[in-house]
Amino acid sequence: MSRFHILLFFLCAAAARDTEYERPVEETVRREGYPLEIHNVTTEDGYILTLHRIPHGKTNTTTSGKVVLLVHALLCSSSFWLLFPGKSLGYILADAGYDVWLINTRGNSYSRRHTSLNPDKDEAFWDFSWHEVGVYDLPATIDHMLEKTNVSSVYFCGHSQGTTAFYVLTSIRPEYNSKVRVQVSLGPTAFLSNSISPVVRIASLLGHTGFYSRLLLLDSGLGEFLSRYSWVSVLGKAVCRGTLMEIVCETVIFVLIGFNDFEISPSSMPVIIGQAPAGASTRQETHYVQLARSGNFRQYDYGADRNLQVYDRITPPDYNLSMITVPGYSVHGSNDWIADVKDVEKLHSLLGNPKERYLVSDPPYNHLDYLCGRSAARIINTKILEYFEEY
Ligand SMILES: *[C@@H]1O[C@H](CO)[C@@H](O)[C@H](O)[C@H]1NC(C)=O
Ligand SMILES: *[C@@H]1O[C@H](CO)[C@@H](O)[C@H](O)[C@H]1NC(C)=O
Ligand SMILES: *[C@@H]1O[C@H](CO)[C@@H](O)[C@H](O)[C@H]1NC(C)=O
Ligand SMILES: *[C@@H]1O[C@H](CO)[C@@H](O)[C@H](O)[C@H]1NC(C)=O
Repeated sequence: MSRFHILLFFLCAAAARDTEYERPVEETVRREGYPLEIHNVTTEDGYILTLHRIPHGKTNTTTSGKVVLLVHALLCSSSFWLLFPGKSLGYILADAGYDVWLINTRGNSYSRRHTSLNPDKDEAFWDFSWHEVGVYDLPATIDHMLEKTNVSSVYFCGHSQGTTAFYVLTSIRPEYNSKVRVQVSLGPTAFLSNSISPVVRIASLLGHTGFYSRLLLLDSGLGEFLSRYSWVSVLGKAVCRGTLMEIVCETVIFVLIGFNDFEISPSSMPVIIGQAPAGASTRQETHYVQLARSGNFRQYDYGADRNLQVYDRITPPDYNLSMITVPGYSVHGSNDWIADVKDVEKLHSLLGNPKERYLVSDPPYNHLDYLCGRSAARIINTKILEYFEEY
């Protein structure tokens, strides 16, 4: 095929795709009849984040003064808490009387903004990992929430990278422990040495994640990883339709996160693919691969020379999990190929204030089932409400 044909294919695919599933959060939430506010938050280092807020439920408009922050996973966005009306956690919490805030961390499609850097031109914009999400994005967001709602602390729930960033925040800036009442981690991600995801294993074997990302055109060339406009994203949205292709796409995703042919129905695929990948930086990916290689939960490894300048030592320092004094609940799945059971057990035991660790083994949850599984509303959301109720 000539380059022209490839281009033509992408153009047709892009034109033919069903945009119903690509609706922005603003539209989805209002269509479902929930109130929505949009807030802009500027971090200390100049990134402008979009927060979505559902201040109360559709039917239950009583506010309880309970304010909750939900933090999405890598390559996802606030929309992942709102994928399935009537079932997804964002709606469930709002209906239960919570004031729900959903962050979009730096670099995803809702938060590609900066006070001075241009994400389409400046490599410096993309020079961050989830470390910066934890050190800058989360505290700016929490402070904004406290200011707007006049409460003294918030409830917290994170998925995957959302949990990683939380551990970074509360270990590096421990003064934020008192601003969070309780935290629930879904698919907690800090140690990755036992992850059996083939992608994690291969990347960790090869190293040089940045180089391969560019080679495969997953990186825009500036350090942006799998944006909404990358070929993976466009192709996925175009082809993952119709029963057969939904099954093919589902299989590709399962190879990354854990096989489970019951919990995520093939018909959920267009819903998921319509909202992901939502963009990130290549360094976020690289930092995770470093964790898989080293077996430690530690700061970004720049190489010995620069580590000496940045950290005053050759290897990066570990995050000290015992500094995290927020009561911590960990929810994980027995079929999660990213957050392996052994890694989560270790992480949970090292937290400064561990509460319950809940393993979902019937059905065996994978890394996406906490949000996208058929039984998630029944199993996961009920658990979260139950944990929150105690605080
Ligand atoms: C947030 O930023 C957007 C885009 O710059 C702007 O249109 C909107 O008015 C801002 N919202 C608030 C509440 O400042
Ligand atoms: C509505 O919100 C209030 C305030 O939190 C709560 O006590 C009540 O249980 C909620 N009602 C329902 C039906 O969820
Ligand atoms: C905020 O809360 C404090 C302490 O609970 C209270 O004294 C103050 O009046 C509240 N301010 C607003 C604007 O509600
Ligand atoms: C980690 O923090 C605890 C306090 O929570 C402290 O006692 C311990 O020395 C710290 N460990 C390291 C390696 O800094």
